[in-house]
Amino acid sequence: MISRFWTDKGFVPTYYTFYGIIGMKRILLCPPDHYDIEYEINPWMHMENKVDQRASHESYNLLKNLYTTLGVEIFEIPQGVGLPDMVYTANFGYVKDEKFVAASFKFPQRRAESLLASTFLKQKFGYETVSLPEGIFYEGQGDLLSDGKRFFFGWGKRSDREAKPYLESALDADLIDFELVDPYYYHLDTCFAPITSELVVMNPRSFTPHGKKQIHELFTDVIETSEEDNHYLACNLVRVGEDIVVGKGVTQTFKDAITAHGYRVHEIPMAEYLKGGGSVKCCSFEF
Ligand code: ARG
Repeated sequence: MISRFWTDKGFVPTYYTFYGIIGMKRILLCPPDHYDIEYEINPWMHMENKVDQRASHESYNLLKNLYTTLGVEIFEIPQGVGLPDMVYTANFGYVKDEKFVAASFKFPQRRAESLLASTFLKQKFGYETVSLPEGIFYEGQGDLLSDGKRFFFGWGKRSDREAKPYLESALDADLIDFELVDPYYYHLDTCFAPITSELVVMNPRSFTPHGKKQIHELFTDVIETSEEDNHYLACNLVRVGEDIVVGKGVTQTFKDAITAHGYRVHEIPMAEYLKGGGSVKCCSFEF
């Protein structure tokens, strides 16, 4: 039974409010005040393909409002000047047990972001920061995802395989790791979304034959994305309870596959963020 509950956003179904009881989902966003394409560090980025500031703010507000309606608690970190990719907050690091495992970015252009995130999380929540030894790269939730039970780590494009034991000790958990082979899907969250411990969405061209086999063994239900869906980074989604948030443009086949598992699909136009090589999940640091 879905009853209604009054909030400052109007009436929302009460099951959303369960997050309030069991611990609300929290997402850190970064308003795109200084977002643009100022360098090229992945194949999606082209210097001449500048960002439409109005459109990027519009997408941002749609995403933020949708999350709020879904009962997510939103936090916003101001974008640093000269850090055009800071809008992709998922890369900041990973939070577990009040500890922030800060990213160590491969490209110098992004390195200052994890320090700003660490200061923000310290001030707001008192989280202590843990860092990896210098020279070992790991790009936060871009390459480190969980289904609530297990941790998955992607390496080979941005994060280093050598980061695995350090992350395992920082998180006090084992990591299941995958080599990422396609330069267009350079972070794990661009090609893999563990929706639950049974259901995963994945882009088959990103994994080695061994990785693909492993994914099929680890999950009972595997939704493989099509090339058309990959152009919209369909795997770069966020789940909030029974709701899935994904970039607009994904195929009806993809949406049907998701709804067949009992989820509602919400689409946000992410064209401006695709210019930088990211979509919904990249912009959403969950903690
Ligand atoms: N332009 C950014 C980069 O290349 C995009 C980051 C996308 N983030 C993500 N979590 N996949 O670093």
